[in-house]
Amino acid sequence: MAAPASRPIAVRGPALSFTGDPFRDGLDATMVHEPDAIVAMADGRIIHFGPASKAAPLLPTGTELRDYGRNALISAGFIDTHVHYPQTPMIASPGGQLLDWLNKYTFPTELKFADKAFARDTARLFLRESLRNGITTSCVYCTVHPHSVDALFEEAEEIGLRLAAGKVLMDRNAPEGLLDTAQSGFDQSQALIQKWHGRGRLLYAITPRFAGTSSSAQLAAAGALWRQHRDCLMQTHIAESRDEVAWIKELFPDRRNYLDVYDHHGLCGPRAVFGHGIWLDEPEMHRLHDCGAAIAHCPTSNFFLGSGAFDIARAVRKERPVRVALGTDIGAGTSFSILATLDAAYKASQLNRQSLSAGHAYYLATRGSARALYLDDKVGSIAAGMEADLVVLDMRSTPLIDSRMNEARDFAEQLFIQMTLGDDRAVQATYVAGRLVHDKASGPAPRPNRSP
Ligand code: GUN
Ligand code: ZN
Repeated sequence: MAAPASRPIAVRGPALSFTGDPFRDGLDATMVHEPDAIVAMADGRIIHFGPASKAAPLLPTGTELRDYGRNALISAGFIDTHVHYPQTPMIASPGGQLLDWLNKYTFPTELKFADKAFARDTARLFLRESLRNGITTSCVYCTVHPHSVDALFEEAEEIGLRLAAGKVLMDRNAPEGLLDTAQSGFDQSQALIQKWHGRGRLLYAITPRFAGTSSSAQLAAAGALWRQHRDCLMQTHIAESRDEVAWIKELFPDRRNYLDVYDHHGLCGPRAVFGHGIWLDEPEMHRLHDCGAAIAHCPTSNFFLGSGAFDIARAVRKERPVRVALGTDIGAGTSFSILATLDAAYKASQLNRQSLSAGHAYYLATRGSARALYLDDKVGSIAAGMEADLVVLDMRSTPLIDSRMNEARDFAEQLFIQMTLGDDRAVQATYVAGRLVHDKASGPAPRPNRSP
C-alpha cells in the first residue's frame, strides 16, 4: 500500500536562492532575495516559492504554515562536497602537515572502523552534527571497510537524506589493516554500488583516496569500475600540499602532472570531485574545465594543515571556468559550520588579493556545490519541483551579531555578517525532504521509521 500523503508544510520568512551561476553571469542576474517569502513543501518536494503576499490562494487546503519571522533567512540546505565521516572523532588533532597528520592521526582512527558498531555510532554523530549545521547533502569518504559505507547509508536512509558516499580504496602506503587490493577494492565497491546506488536518495561515489595510497593497478580498476557505472560520482584528493605534489611526481614519474595520473587511469570526467586542487597548474585547470570535473574547496582544512590558500577567482576564470564546490573536509577541516567554512573561504580569497562576495559565497554553499555534483536539478536551490531540503537561519543568533546587524547597510552586508560571525547557533531549523529534522529549540526530530 502506498504511504499516506503527508500534510503540506509551508515556511514563511525572508528567503535567498540562486537561479544560475553568479561567477558566470553576475549576482544581479542570478541571486533571488525575497524579503517575505513562502516556501511550501509536500511529498518531499517544493511545491511553491514566492512572495507571501501572493501565496495564500496557491497553497493546498490544510497546509500548515510555520512563520519564522523577519529575522530569519530561508535557504536551500547547505551542501558539503568533501568530508570524511570517520574523522569526526579526531577533528582538532594538533601538529603536522598533511602527510604526517595522515600517519599520526587519520590512519589510527580509521583502523577503529573495523568495528561496525563504532562506525554506526560515528555515522550517527556525524549526520546529527551536519544537520545541526544545516547541511542536507554531503559527499562523503568512508574507510576501507565496506561496512563503514553500510553504517553511513543506513543512518542516512533513515533520515531520508540525499547523500553520496564511498568505500576508500587504498592498496599501499597505509597500515596493513587499512589496505585492500586492486581486485578486492573493485569487487567490494561494485557490491556496494549494487546495494546502495540509486536506492532512495542515496548515491555511490567511487573513492580512490589519492594517488599516494593507490597503485597504478588500483587506479586503473577504479577507472574501469567508473566506466561501468558512469552515473556514480568519483572522488579523490589532488594537489593539496606541495610536499604531496612532489611525492606524487616521484611515484608516477611518467605522468605529465598530478591530474594526468588520474586522467591516465580514466578518472576524469563529469561527476569527478577533486578535493583541494590548491597547487594545480594552468594545463590541469584547462583539463578540469574540458572534462566537466569539479574542485572541492576546503578552506578550514587548508589553513589547519598549512596547505595553502586556494584561489577561487583563478579557478573560475571566464575563458575556462572550473566547477568549484565547498567542503568542510572534516577532520582536517575544523568546523561543521558552513558559515565558518565560508568565512575561511573569504580569507583564502583575501590571501590571493581577491574578495569573495557574500552572494558568491552562499552560491558556493548551495547551488554551486549542487552543480559540481551534477545534482543541481534536484537540490541546491529553492524552486517548485526541487527536493525540499532547506535551512532556516536566525540572522540575530548572538548578542554581537544582533548588534552588528543593526548597522548593516544592505542585504549583502547582512549575509556577510552571518558568514563572518555566525556558526551552528545561527541554524534555527533544517528540513530534509520537507520534514523538520533539526530544530534549534528542541534538537533532532524523531526518525520517521523508529519506535520511540
Ligand atoms: N589526502 C589523502 N587523504 C586525505 C585525508 O584524509 N584528508 C586530507 N585533508 N587530505 C588527504
Ligand atoms: Zn579529504
